[in-house]
Amino acid sequence: MTAPAIEAVDLVKRFGDDPDERPAVDGVSFTVPQGTVLGLLGPNGAGKTTTVRMMTTLTEPTSGTARVAGYDVCTDPAMVRSNMGLTGQAATVDELLTGRENIRMIGALYGIGRRDVARLGDQLLEQFSIADAADRPVKSYSGGMRRRIDLAVSLIASPPVLFLDEPTTGLDPRSRIDLWDVLRDLVSRGTTLLLTTQYLEEADQLANDIVVMDRGRIIAKGTPLQLKQQAGNASLVVTVSHAADLPTARELMARAGIEVHVDAGARRLTAAAEGIADMTRVAGWLQDSRIEVDDIGLSRPSLDDVFLSLTGHRAEDDENEESRV
Ligand SMILES: Nc1ncnc2c1ncn2[C@@H]1O[C@H](COP(=O)(O)OP(=O)(O)OP(=O)(O)O)[C@@H](O)[C@H]1O
Ligand SMILES: [Mg+2]
Repeated sequence: MTAPAIEAVDLVKRFGDDPDERPAVDGVSFTVPQGTVLGLLGPNGAGKTTTVRMMTTLTEPTSGTARVAGYDVCTDPAMVRSNMGLTGQAATVDELLTGRENIRMIGALYGIGRRDVARLGDQLLEQFSIADAADRPVKSYSGGMRRRIDLAVSLIASPPVLFLDEPTTGLDPRSRIDLWDVLRDLVSRGTTLLLTTQYLEEADQLANDIVVMDRGRIIAKGTPLQLKQQAGNASLVVTVSHAADLPTARELMARAGIEVHVDAGARRLTAAAEGIADMTRVAGWLQDSRIEVDDIGLSRPSLDDVFLSLTGHRAEDDENEESRV
C-alpha cells in the first residue's frame, strides 16, 4: 500500500489569543490517496483557505500537522514545497510581465530548462485559451484571464500534488468546463488534487471524495454519491398534461404505497421513490388509464440539497455569520 499523497492530522489554527474563541480550523483530519481528487467544501469562513495554507507551508498550524508526498509540513517544509503546486484564492502572477514571461520566470525558478519551459508554456497557454494574449502584460487581462494564467503558471513545474483554492471562481461556464478537462487529464496521469470550491457541481464532477467543513470542523465526509444518499431518497416527479387528471394520477401513484404531494398550479405530482422500477410501474399505470403526461422523471438530491441539509444554509447565501445561529 502506498502512503497517501496528502494527509491532514488533527490540524488546528487559532488566530487570536483568546482561548474561549473557537479556532478557525478546529481539529481537521483527512487523507487523499495518490492520483485522486479531494473536494473541500464549505461556506464562507468555514476554514478552507486556512487549511490549505497550513498544508502548503504558508502558515504554521497551532497544533497538529500535515504531510504532503510523505513530507511533514512542520519538519520538512522545503520538501513539501518542492512536491506541490498551489493556486491561491487571489492571483499571484506578476502584473507587469506578460503571460509568457510569467511562465518563463516560474519555470526558471523551478530550474526547468528553457526549451522545456517554452514547449510546456505554449501547451498551457493553448490549453487555457490565453495564447492570443500571451505577449500582453497581465495587467491588461480580464479577471477570468488572470485566473487562467495563474493556473497555467502553477502547472508549469508538473508537481505531483496540486492544491487549488477555488480554482474556477470568476470563470465563465465554458472556461470552467475547459479547466475541469485539464484537471481530469492531470489526475489521469497521476497528479493528486485537493481543491476547495463553493460550486457543488464542481465537486460532483471532479472529486472522488468530499470533505464538508463548517466553522472550522468537518461535518461530513464521503463520496459524492454517499453524501447525496445521506440527503434523502430519490423522488418521482410526474407532470400531467391536463389538470383534470390530477386526482386520478394521484390515486395511481398512491398505489405504490407512497405519500403524494400535489402542486396543482404546476400540474405536478411528487412522491418518494426507490428507483427506476417505481418510475416504470407508475408510467405503465398512467398509460393504462390514458392519462397524458408532459413529463415523468426521477429526481435525486443534488449536492446543493446535501449542503443545505448539513449546514442549514446553501453554499452561496451565508455572507452573514450571525444569520445562521
Ligand atoms: N490572517 C487571519 N487573521 C485572523 N483571522 C483569520 C485570518 N485568516 C482567516 N481568518 C479567519 O478564519 C476563519 C476561516 O477563514 P478561511 O479564509 O479559512 O475561510 P474559507 O473557508 O476559505 O472561506 P471563503 O469561502 O470565504 O474563502 C474566518 O473566520 C476568518 O475570518
Ligand atoms: Mg477561502
